Amino acid sequence: MSIPIPNSLRPGYVAENNTIQLALVGCGGRGTGAVVNALSTQSGPIKLTAMAELFENRLTSSYAMLKNKFPNQVDVPRERQFVGFDAYKRALDCLSQDDVAIFATPAGFRWVHFAYAIRKGIHVFMEKPLSVDGPTSCRMLTLARESETKGLKVAVGLMCRHNPAMEELHERIQSGQIGEIIALRSYRLHGPEKTSEPKPSGIGELLYQVKQFHSFLWASGGLFNDFYIYNLDDCCWMKGAWPESAIGLGGRHYQDGFVDQNFDHYSVEYRFKNGSTLFFHGRFINRCHEEHASYAHGTKGMAIISSGGHNPAKCRLYKGHNPINDHLLWRCSPIQSNPYQRQWERLINSIREDQKMNEAGRGAEASLVATMGRMAAHTGQQITRDDILQCDHEFAPQIAKLTMESEAPLKPGQGGRYPVPQPGRYGKREY
Ligand SMILES: NC(=O)c1ccc[n+]([C@@H]2O[C@H](COP(=O)([O-])OP(=O)(O)OC[C@H]3O[C@@H](n4cnc5c(N)ncnc54)[C@H](O)[C@@H]3O)[C@@H](O)[C@H]2O)c1
Repeated sequence: MSIPIPNSLRPGYVAENNTIQLALVGCGGRGTGAVVNALSTQSGPIKLTAMAELFENRLTSSYAMLKNKFPNQVDVPRERQFVGFDAYKRALDCLSQDDVAIFATPAGFRWVHFAYAIRKGIHVFMEKPLSVDGPTSCRMLTLARESETKGLKVAVGLMCRHNPAMEELHERIQSGQIGEIIALRSYRLHGPEKTSEPKPSGIGELLYQVKQFHSFLWASGGLFNDFYIYNLDDCCWMKGAWPESAIGLGGRHYQDGFVDQNFDHYSVEYRFKNGSTLFFHGRFINRCHEEHASYAHGTKGMAIISSGGHNPAKCRLYKGHNPINDHLLWRCSPIQSNPYQRQWERLINSIREDQKMNEAGRGAEASLVATMGRMAAHTGQQITRDDILQCDHEFAPQIAKLTMESEAPLKPGQGGRYPVPQPGRYGKREY
């Protein structure tokens, strides 16, 4: 239930004082970082006025850090610090039109929060991914269209699209410098991350699953969606298309001590409408080849889209398919502005100047593509875009109604283990 905000606590309207106000929902690492980016924008007055969290200690530490760094731009008295599953509503109720809500909770909650922002006509910055399964992917596509119809400005945390080097690479590829793209390869190979031990005592099942969100498909879409969406989005951006289907493999070699739902290696082959292919490989195993990179192969040459992570980009173009110096056609400048900050400058400018900026549609498509690949590996079936659009396995159908007393969407079994996908066993259901 929303608690009505007394008028004296309601912030003023942008139209009256030109100050854009922010509400942060999910005060963890990325949410706090997004506020730092927002408050560092240079185009006019901006301040943080409300915060929402499930864990009070996370809100308090985020607030303390932000207040220390931006003493005059953080105006969040206790009356505008909200804790609970409905905290997002109370925080957004503090905003007016032309203010911005920041959604940096695990992705499972994204559609719930985005729907409320659209209803209230509030602009949004939301972290990737935007959805976790078939039904929420469809819902996000619909919400994206609604937000566009309403003229809202929406930024999605796929920040590589705001990296100037990658923007230049995109222009060069689209203008045909390596010919038509016939294949893409992408890798995220490194040691284990975000693993989960059995739930300790002292925390309830629901909050444990939210806290360990990477481990649970209902909360995050799993490591596949949360980690790999960047690679997939970068490749599809360069290709200028979204794939139509996927087949995939994967398994759990060394997950004995861990109770999560993820595989520790994935290989997915995505197929585009014109028959060209995106090969994606992900692994969370120590002492193996490590690589975090994406490549595009065209009829005239190849591109390094990224290598060594997201930022700075190390984009290159080569003639032929062997990336040696003698074949180098172009390399990006090593000096690049921060894409996180650049995205925020653009979002805030678009609000102040009423220019169109809405990334929700492509963010929803990228999230759908991630779900398609994960589902292909988890089910062992070929998964098409239509399979996703018609899928009725919603992992957390009650998510909009959760309270601190609710049961968790997933029940642990023996030894505190959770259901793990078993390819070939459940048709097109993952577990
Ligand atoms: N673009 C990027 O570079 C980048 C980097 C890291 C994380 N992310 C994304 O940001 C999101 C958050 O990741 P993080 O690393 O900050 O995690 P985090 O655990 O540090 O922060 C998430 C916070 O959200 C809170 N929360 C969870 N459910 C909530 C709810 N219903 N209402 C209010 N608060 C809630 C949690 O208690 C936690 O404090 C994820 O979707 C992740 O994929 C993006």
